[in-house]
Amino acid sequence: MKLKLKIWRQKNASAKGQMVDYDVSDISEHMSFLEMMDVLNEQLISKGEDPIAFDHDCREGICGMCSMYINGEAHGPDRGITTCQLHMRMFKDGDTITIEPFRAAAFPVIKDLVVDRSAFDRIQQAGGYISVNTSGNTQDANTIPISKHAADEAMDAATCIGCGACVATCKNSSAMLFVGAKVSQYALLPQGQIEAVDRVKNMVAQMDLEGFGNCTNTGACEIECPKGISLDTIARMNRELMKAHI
Ligand code: SF4
Ligand code: FES
Repeated sequence: MKLKLKIWRQKNASAKGQMVDYDVSDISEHMSFLEMMDVLNEQLISKGEDPIAFDHDCREGICGMCSMYINGEAHGPDRGITTCQLHMRMFKDGDTITIEPFRAAAFPVIKDLVVDRSAFDRIQQAGGYISVNTSGNTQDANTIPISKHAADEAMDAATCIGCGACVATCKNSSAMLFVGAKVSQYALLPQGQIEAVDRVKNMVAQMDLEGFGNCTNTGACEIECPKGISLDTIARMNRELMKAHI
């Protein structure tokens, strides 16, 4: 395939960015989207031009690094996948593809398509952990009965990879799907009860401090989330917060 690409280029956080047009050729439908970007970067490097900066690590849908807005959608036109799992068979020869970074005030652009998502790390640090008694009488987790339903729901919430697609998609740049998932994965389990009150208060306070917006129940985040995190997690977070304040 031959493709026309319109890509956001920005030298650094303070520079003014702009869309730049590129032509790329020799793209196989079997390539992943990031492999297509690799081909473009090789072509740019061979011409002595600055390659396009983009984030990636695992390239298999686990790390949540490959944050890109493709043709107006976080992680592109497919559903339930990250950018690294997007295949070029989703596009046709001659297509024009627009590629932008995830945009949110709390995710400043570092360079080109790379954004700083350390706000998510700080929210995690505010409460995304449990205390374990390591004094010698630690209870084996397998001896604590947990209903199948609660275990399944906790596991579903724990599949959030912190990619930020929910924030990039939300018109309010809300991080409530992410925080809802992180609160839920502990709120559903007995191990999460010890810090439950402080956890939800601290994580929500940090979320607000980072400048994320509020949820207005549009539900776009749930549709674009590559891991299918449910809006139910936001409802659970709100219930946990209300309980904590009472
Ligand atoms: S809730 Fe979904 S979209 Fe948001 S950070 Fe987690 S995995 Fe990504
Ligand atoms: S590179 Fe890890 S999820 Fe895409």
